[in-house]
Amino acid sequence: MNTSTSSPASALPEASGSAHSPDSPVFPAAARTLPRIVVLATGGTIAGAASDPANTAGYEAGVLSIEQLLATIPALGKVARLDAEQLANLDSKDMTLAFWTTLAQRVNALLGDDAIDGVVITHGTDTLEETAYLLHLTVKSSKPVVLTAAMRPATALSADGPLNLLNAVTLAASPAARGQGVLVALNNRIHSARDAVKTSTFAVDAFHSPEAGVLGWVQDARVELVRRVVRPHTLDTEFVIGSAWPHVEIVTSYAGVSRALVEGLVAAGVRGIVVAGTGNGSIHETLQQALVDALTQGIAVVRSSRVGSGHVMHNGAAADDALGFVTADSLNPYKARVLLMLALAAGAAGPVALQRVFDLY
Ligand code: SIN
Repeated sequence: MNTSTSSPASALPEASGSAHSPDSPVFPAAARTLPRIVVLATGGTIAGAASDPANTAGYEAGVLSIEQLLATIPALGKVARLDAEQLANLDSKDMTLAFWTTLAQRVNALLGDDAIDGVVITHGTDTLEETAYLLHLTVKSSKPVVLTAAMRPATALSADGPLNLLNAVTLAASPAARGQGVLVALNNRIHSARDAVKTSTFAVDAFHSPEAGVLGWVQDARVELVRRVVRPHTLDTEFVIGSAWPHVEIVTSYAGVSRALVEGLVAAGVRGIVVAGTGNGSIHETLQQALVDALTQGIAVVRSSRVGSGHVMHNGAAADDALGFVTADSLNPYKARVLLMLALAAGAAGPVALQRVFDLY
């Protein structure tokens, strides 16, 4: 894990270790009644830098420090008292399970402190939807936790990171965000961590909650939540963060798919396989036979879909129950993998126990 930062981009202020402590000029004594929010920085494009401001694709993610980013947003001082921690500075494509453990444990420790009102996490967009859902299921607090990110590096013309970060802190400082589970705030929109997915490789409006829709909006310091999160999360789940992660992988069904990947995973000792099926989670007959063979060895198989929105309906007696397949409801394959790992780690065994988990969360 790289926690250091390389040379600051010229367009951004130099980092200052005290710039965002509660005693700095940005946070005068008069502001000390504001909520106390901790920003945990993990990297991503929001901390990315390029040599050319017109470059929004050829940049390095996870370069700038959280102090450098916060120093560009003086308006934060009117919203919250901020502390910042640089937990990592990575491109989120390189996210690890060990770091998930570190992050979730740090969030839980911070929120257990009565003096802290909420946590904001800066993250790369590429795997944000996985980290957010993991935290949604394992944070043990009703205090706000908000993930944010950016599609354009901090050095870009019209960089989206500063406003996203201001809006995320505004949301975390709002009493309305309590008890809503982990939230995702980008491009003025508020999503539940369960539903938020990245849907564009380049657009600033990259995150959506297919079928479910947004929970609300943050704009000009105003938080408006118009829906509540219904499924259990945070304090109401059976999951606790640990350091043992059951080996779960994802395979995709497509024309001409072979048995090779599933056979390789079985040989590798995998505990679970999520299938990114076609349509309503349908699976090519060749791949399906390989998965049925895997099931006989005690490997859990969850049907999700590669489509990107909608539910995978459980076929009951017709197929799933007879074969032993579990269905992922409206979780995409990446979120389904998170839930399957947590469920297996919590001791859920067999299709009936696992289906209960997927129906509930
Ligand atoms: C990353 O996920 O770390 C890089 C891409 C991004 O943040 O948009």
